[in-house]
Amino acid sequence: MKPLLFIETYGCQMNFADSEILASILQDRYDTTQDGMEADLILVNTCSIRDHAEQRVLNRLKEFASLKKRRPSLKVGLVGCMAERLKEQLLESDLDIDLVVGPDAYRSLPSLLDEVQAGRKGMDVLLSESETYQEIQPVRLDSNHVSAFIPIMRGCQNFCAYCVVPYTRGKERSRDARTIVKEAESLFARGYKEVTLLGQNVNSYKAGDLDFAGLMRLVAEVDPALRVRFSTSHPKDLSDALIDVMAAYPNICKNIHLPVQSGSSAMLARMKRKYDRAWYLERVAALRARIPDCGISTDIIAGFCGETEQDHEQTLSLMREVGYDFAFMFKYSDRPGTFAHKNYVDDVPDEVKSRRLNEIIDLQQQLSLQSNRRDVGKTFDILVEGVSKKDKHRFFGRNSQNKVVVFDNPLLPDGRFKVRVGDYVKTGVGDCTAATLLGTLVG
Ligand code: SAH
Ligand code: SF4
Ligand code: F3S
Repeated sequence: MKPLLFIETYGCQMNFADSEILASILQDRYDTTQDGMEADLILVNTCSIRDHAEQRVLNRLKEFASLKKRRPSLKVGLVGCMAERLKEQLLESDLDIDLVVGPDAYRSLPSLLDEVQAGRKGMDVLLSESETYQEIQPVRLDSNHVSAFIPIMRGCQNFCAYCVVPYTRGKERSRDARTIVKEAESLFARGYKEVTLLGQNVNSYKAGDLDFAGLMRLVAEVDPALRVRFSTSHPKDLSDALIDVMAAYPNICKNIHLPVQSGSSAMLARMKRKYDRAWYLERVAALRARIPDCGISTDIIAGFCGETEQDHEQTLSLMREVGYDFAFMFKYSDRPGTFAHKNYVDDVPDEVKSRRLNEIIDLQQQLSLQSNRRDVGKTFDILVEGVSKKDKHRFFGRNSQNKVVVFDNPLLPDGRFKVRVGDYVKTGVGDCTAATLLGTLVG
């Protein structure tokens, strides 16, 4: 029996995809477990995007440190963005960490673990301009085997003023298209029905002459029964060619996550987002003109440096204008090392940030409910993904627009459910909440 590896993942989808690469790199030495208490090695894959994300991990590491006191053979490693940002500070802390490995150095894990077994500490935080782990077959850690992530590019060099990612993830680099298509084919052959192409900036993918729209075409052609999603897109790179490809292929989901951050052009300039309010609204209009039913979601930051009440009002008005289906909303968190940290003052008082954030959340709640109400009475093809946590006779799936549809799944006389996880089914929407559509099976 091999020793057991437990990976605990924080942060964005890229980190979840990286954990599957980590598990693959270590699969000759470790089997994975879902239970940290029985593990021989715990790897915490971390996020630095906001201070709160780091504090959560630091608290968790204290728990692991006390677990180590009871089980001295347990080893704990910290990997991902916090490893890259804090480096040896972590090894020098009293958190009793054995290993610190940045996002581009996962191939050195086996040799670093040899060091650790020999009683030393292991660290590699070198960033790379070429590492994409492209030929590594991820060990899929998801439980449903319906939907999988495929990282297609790594890094980011947009240097938005508030953001640590360019420092923790290094330069942008794209993965070879053949390895991406092969991975999609192999997933489909193993029964997967949906892939999500991932990157900090997916639509700036570029490999030789192939751009993101071209890559989407190749992946969409793997099979009409394989759904294709992608995340995250930067508004500056939302090309007409991409919109055309989304419109042309029924299996490319009609959904885009298009983080706006702020509705004020003055704030967008301070944030160094490389577009303004008018550009963003024009791109949304272009998308809606070609794909009227496209789901649109976003990220918003409340209380960035210098944000006035008028700037905030502009964010609320842009949200109404676009009518987002869904949003991730955050209070600005000052990050050491960023342009904003060095050049601006984090001058919006915390209570003002909180109040603005709450107004943004309340508005989005209304917009999500309105969006869902517009879908009552419609019929959607959904991909069934799992059983509802509250009631095992209710299953759920998502439609092309990425909305969750919950429905009753009748038991057949032979004791099986009528539809199974991984099936495509038609559901008619009869009711909704702000978070979900409530449907019934049709036909
Ligand atoms: N690459 C993606 C975003 C990755 S980070 C993009 O550009 O769209 C995810 C989200 O975290 C960002 O869209 C932003 O809304 C938020 N975020 C990033 N840095 C932040 C900070 N310092 N404080 C608060 N929110 C932040
Ligand atoms: Fe951060 Fe901007 Fe890069 Fe997104 S595009 S990861 S917000 S620097
Ligand atoms: Fe966090 Fe790193 Fe992702 S900072 S959001 S885990 S790229």
